[in-house]
Amino acid sequence: MKIKKRPFGMVDGKPADLFVLENSNHLEMKVTNYGGIVVSLVVPDRDGNMDDIVLGYNQLEAYVKHNPYFGAIIGRYGNRIGNAQFTLEGQKYTLAKNEGENNLHGGIKGFDKVVWDAKPVMDDDYVGLILKYLSKDGEEGFPGNLDVTVKYILNNDNEFRIDYRATTDKTTIVNLTNHSYFNLTGEGSGDILGHEVVINAERFTPVDETLIPTGELAPVEGTPMDFRIPTAIGARIDADYEQLKIGKGYDHNFVLNKDQEGAMTLAATAYEPASGRFMEVFTTEPGMQFYTGNFLNGMIGKSGKPYNFRNAFCFETQHFPDSPNKPEFPSVVLRPGEEYKTTTIYKFSTI
Ligand code: GLA
Repeated sequence: MKIKKRPFGMVDGKPADLFVLENSNHLEMKVTNYGGIVVSLVVPDRDGNMDDIVLGYNQLEAYVKHNPYFGAIIGRYGNRIGNAQFTLEGQKYTLAKNEGENNLHGGIKGFDKVVWDAKPVMDDDYVGLILKYLSKDGEEGFPGNLDVTVKYILNNDNEFRIDYRATTDKTTIVNLTNHSYFNLTGEGSGDILGHEVVINAERFTPVDETLIPTGELAPVEGTPMDFRIPTAIGARIDADYEQLKIGKGYDHNFVLNKDQEGAMTLAATAYEPASGRFMEVFTTEPGMQFYTGNFLNGMIGKSGKPYNFRNAFCFETQHFPDSPNKPEFPSVVLRPGEEYKTTTIYKFSTI
């Protein structure tokens, strides 16, 4: 196991570093404290060949210039808030609009675009990084000073574990996630339509044309949203089904099956038959956004290859989009004295 650190560049007059974490099985993860971005994640295939299975760039400048959230921590609110506004304890808050009328992934300068404080950590069975950021009262329109800690761990069971923690000094809303784009064949190797996916959800949240949930929890049964048994991503992605047309593919929040709120359960799996790579996602969160890279448009990635339409997928564990305006959805409110606490694990193996 080892952790190395090297300079990655400067943003907002602050130095950003690149941390190289390696576990005892030689899985290697590179992370920068700019946006908490997972720059690369190298895992073996069934023959032991190592490939980098997340999309990203080699240069800090490329992330600063244009990053469709590759690998980043998303906050203060993952996914969309309709009309970029909400009311909390009788007070109306107006947020930055960065996607039409809506607030997406925290606004114009979300947690993906700030420099975090970073401290490497190592224990008997893991290497990791503790990232801290203080989001000021009023930042992007959100109330309260939010003190955020995100701990990334790469352990010797080949799990990438993320612990999210936050506290506030004023009632606020919070919904953190990580936006890694996966391609289990290797980044830049083409589309992900052959990956076989399972999503442990009986229901999903249908959306309107601006991708804001309608409020309904619709059954997946009998629709192309049904991933309760292993199904290739491409099997039904272009079906004549309104929700897929709106999303240009999958871009939907799934209501994860849970017996108990906040329990750590299996959310989803993805299997890539050619390499044998298998990824399992466990989370304490009630939802997961399944996004099939429908906005990727040919940007050149870290190994010089283009990232085209549907060349990666994301499993963004989260609370449901637009929850601040949907009282019937699980609450995203955080009050002074409380602790926001969620965990997500991505586990890698081969079959
Ligand atoms: C999420 C959203 C998508 C898109 C991506 C980033 O998955 O739901 O619509 O904005 O992030 O490009």
